Parts: sequence; C-alpha cells; structure tokens
Amino acid sequence: MAGRIPREFIDNLIARVDIVDLIDARVPLKQAGKNYQARCPFHNEKSPSFNVNREKQFYHCFGCGASGNVISFLMDYERQTFVEAVETLADSLGLEIPKESYRAEKREQDSILPLYQVQEQAAEFYARQLREHPEATRARDYLQRRGLSDEIIQHFKLGYAPPGWRSLPDTLPADSLLAAGLAINNDAGGFYDRFRDRILFPIRDRRGRVIGFGGRVMGDETPKYLNSPETPTFKKHREVYGLYELLATRKKPERIVVVEGYMDVIALAQHGVTYAVATLGTATSPDHADLLFRYAPELVFCFDGDNAGRNAAWKALEASLPALRNSRSMRFLMLPDTHDPDSLVRAEGKEGFMHRLAGAQQLSDYFFKHLSDNLDMDSIEGRSALFQNANPLLGKLPDGVFKDMMQARLAKLTGHGKAAKARVASHKPGHIIQKAHTERAKPSMLRIILALLIQNPEFFSLINVEALTELERDEKAGPLAGKLFSILKERPDICCGGIPEHFRDEAEYGLVLKLSVLEIPLSDTDARTEFRATLDKFVSQQKAMLIEQRLEWLERKAERIGFAGLDETEREEYRRLTRKR
Ligand code: UTP
Ligand code: MN
Repeated sequence: MAGRIPREFIDNLIARVDIVDLIDARVPLKQAGKNYQARCPFHNEKSPSFNVNREKQFYHCFGCGASGNVISFLMDYERQTFVEAVETLADSLGLEIPKESYRAEKREQDSILPLYQVQEQAAEFYARQLREHPEATRARDYLQRRGLSDEIIQHFKLGYAPPGWRSLPDTLPADSLLAAGLAINNDAGGFYDRFRDRILFPIRDRRGRVIGFGGRVMGDETPKYLNSPETPTFKKHREVYGLYELLATRKKPERIVVVEGYMDVIALAQHGVTYAVATLGTATSPDHADLLFRYAPELVFCFDGDNAGRNAAWKALEASLPALRNSRSMRFLMLPDTHDPDSLVRAEGKEGFMHRLAGAQQLSDYFFKHLSDNLDMDSIEGRSALFQNANPLLGKLPDGVFKDMMQARLAKLTGHGKAAKARVASHKPGHIIQKAHTERAKPSMLRIILALLIQNPEFFSLINVEALTELERDEKAGPLAGKLFSILKERPDICCGGIPEHFRDEAEYGLVLKLSVLEIPLSDTDARTEFRATLDKFVSQQKAMLIEQRLEWLERKAERIGFAGLDETEREEYRRLTRKR
C-alpha cells in the first residue's frame, strides 16, 4: 500500500509539515524547553508525558510509549489510513500527490465514492421516513416498546423503510442503488427496493460512513433480519456494528464488549453501557479482533447463554488468539440460558450488567475449562487429549510472557511439555531480572550509535569507510545499519521523523521507533562528540576482536605443529599482532 506513492514525496511531506502545528491544532501543546508537551492523547494520564519535537519531527509519550511522525499521528489519532494521512498532509501544503503512482488508489476510490454517497442519502431518507411516513407509527411504537429513547434512535440513526416496492427517491441513480445492494433487479428488467416495511439499522464504518443496513421486521415474519449484501465497501468479516457510535461517545474505551445483535448494542447504550459492538450476523473473525484491539486493550465477548452462544464464544476465542499481544486481554461473559444482553440489561439494569461484566471469565480460565470439560483429567487419556487439543491453539499466540505462562499451565495440568524446563529456569529469577535491568540501564555501543544516527541524521557524514564496513558487517546491527546507510546516502537532508517511514512495512519498524526516542546519557559531552567517541570505541573493539581471533588461530596452529612450523610471514604476523595486543 505504502509503495505506490513515491518515497521521495513522502519524505518531503514529513520534512515540510510542522509536526508541532499539526498536533497542536488537534491536541493543544505547551512549550517546555526544546519540546512541546501535552497530556497524552493515546492514554489516560494526569501529568503530561507526551512530547513533540519540532527539529526531529517526532512525538513520543514516556508514559505509554506511543511514538511516531506526522503520518503515524494522523493514523493513530484520527484513525486515518496511510493514504488518507498522506492526502491530509499534501492538502495542508497545497501539494498534489504525483499522479502516475497515485492512479491505482485514486481509481479505486473514485469507483467506491458513489457507493458511500448513495448509502448516506438512503440513510437520511430512511431516518426521515421513521419521523414522517404515515405508516411509521408502528415502527415508532415498536422501538418505544423496546425501550429506546428518541436520543438513542438518533444516535444510531435508525430509520424506517416504507412498505411499497419503490420508495427510495428517484434522485438516486438505479445503478448506484443496485451496486449498493439497496435495490434488486426484477425479471422484467426493472428493480425494487431491498428493504420494505422494516426498521433499519444503518451500519457505519469507523469513520462514520454508512456502508450497509440491517433491517428488522416488526412482527413474526421471516427472515427476522435482512442485511445488505457485501459490496466493495461492506465486508462483514472486517466491520462491526456500533464502533463509530462507540468512538463518538468515548475515544479511548478501557474495554469493548462484543455482542451478537444490533438490538443488544443499542439496548446496552440505552442503559449507559456505551462500549458494545456487534458482529454482523457472522462469527468473530481475526480481522474483527485486530480492528477492536486498535481501540481498546480488552475485549469482553458477551454471548447468549444457549448452545449457539457458547459455540460463538469459542469461535471468537480461536479467531482472536493471534491478536493477543502483550497487554491485550480477552474475557468471556456467558449469560443465563434465557437471556441475551438486551433482555439482561433490561431485567437487571446497568448495575446488574456491570456486576456480571466484572465477573467475566479470564481467557486462561475459560480456555482450560472449555477444553477439559468432558475429559477425565485423572487419566492419562484425558490429559493427553487436553494436551493435543490445547497445544496447537496455544501455538497461535504471539510469542511472549502470556504464551509462556499458558504453556506452563498446560504442562502443569497434563504433566507433559515445557514444565520441566520452565521450573529449572525459574530457580534463579533474581539473576535473570538483574541482567535485564543492567542491560536496560546502559545501552550497548551499537544501540548508542544507531540511536544517535537516527536522531541526528546529519551525523552520517562523520562515519568513515572503515566504520561503515564494521557496522554493516556486524551480525546483529548489520541488516538495519545497511538499510539505514542507503537511506541516508540517498536523502542526506532527511529528518529524524522521516526515517521510520522507510521502515513502516518492515520488520525493523518497531526497533527504529524505539531508537528514535532512546535517551542516550551524555555525561559531559554533546551528542556529536559522544557519537564520534562511541564509533571509535566500536571500531577499535571490533579490530581488537579480529586480532584476538587471528592470534588464537595462529597459536592453535603453533600448538599443533610447533612455532617453527609456521612459515616466515605467519611468524612475522604473530609478532606484529602480539605487539598490538
Ligand atoms: P438475534 O436473533 O439474536 O437478534 O440475532 P437480536 O439482536 O437479539 O434481535 P431482537 O432482539 O430479536 O430484535 C443476532 C444477530 O444475528 C443476525 C443479526 O445481525 C442479529 O442482530 N441475524 C439474525 C440475521 O442477520 N438474520 C436473522 O434472521 C437473524
Ligand atoms: Mn434480542
């Protein structure tokens, strides 16, 4: 995606847009020395640890670790896509994105733009019918019976599709209506409205654009709900109902409750639980989990207490495992057999629902309970079945502490697997922690060099050929150093904030961000001197290491065949190197 707009154009944007102005217009900043500060927009805090640096064109929060350049800010704060962020920046400078590279994306956008417009106009039309259409009293009565206030009806932009075959206004072109799934072709070559005499729930994407509808009958007709078909702008496995409405109420929810039905989302909101979303009549998908974890660190799946609900919960677990990175969590709330979230919150109120929510089962408990439910854990058969069912699922978890601990628990439950090793390692926890601690206290020479270079790209000219070679040859730093050097060679005037952009789609992106904000303790020198000194130290250390290796080789040879067995040049080399040592 990032590849099609020329890098040079993007570098140029980042260099020219003032990050302080851009952020200040959205999150007011206060000057504090070289930096500008605010309370972090990405997490809740009392005192400001969000810093913006104009020279570096970079922001960093010491509290939550959020960091990046102008593009990252627009993506994370305004939830823009990469292309949208580039557009915003280009617009603000009055620049046009170079056509040849942009054409593909542009064409795609042009073809889907009418879809958004027609859906939006249809939603306006349906909302108006709910207020004004003579037949709509039934619909309004129905919604009132289900306890919805006018405010909530407006918040979710609910509507009413009148009973006739052709109610949508003629101003909406037929081909757009058909493409949007709002109309259906008939045999006679004409078309008719998909939604008739139903209450309509507009489905909006996270930016508030209407992308489809769900429509409910008011009686016992079937199907109870009719939904828009998939279109280029409406993919059910990628969208959820209620996310836009949730984000309009709270920008940074602590958790998101995932339910099954439109009415569950709305009834919860009506009772003050304004952080629920629903899947769209489909199972929870990995894309759903990815999407929701972008907005909240915890998901609580809250499904009906019946069999279908239990299956849906387990499916949700399986789909979400790969998204479960550090500091993200998932819980599961099973409702009593006869309830769904809508009926429960109406019966027990917000208090009752919150109480149940607080008691929702942790993923780890639910996981092992579900898998061992019908197994006899006192038998080898039961324990081996548990291991075989659980182990591949745990394999889907991203590497990290949580995965380790889940595997350890599985080992403990089954007496098989990683437990033995884990126990040995845990004998000296203090030792391990201490090591990690000292490592963090003093960054390695390589980290210092790379961090100072990223933070001060102009230091590139201070690196001589010998040092370049040593850095590129280094096993650990080499790949990153190599890429970095070629960027700096090509764009000598790049600023710090421009560098991560070259890595956005690469494995090193996270590392580059970290290095961009790594604080280097400068005792009583400036950054330039520190950089030179560390570089020199690194090069001489590398050289010394090479000498050691060569000497060792010569000594081993001499040991085998005697010093006299070395030829004249080797003996000369040995003497020379020992002097240097
Ligand atoms: P439910 O039947 O549980 O609906 O279906 P609900 O939300 O509780 O609705 P009410 O309370 O009877 O009004 C859950 C979800 O499954 C999809 C819809 O997305 C619905 O919200 N569904 C259900 C359909 O798509 N079609 C159907 O016929 C039924
Ligand atoms: Mn219901």
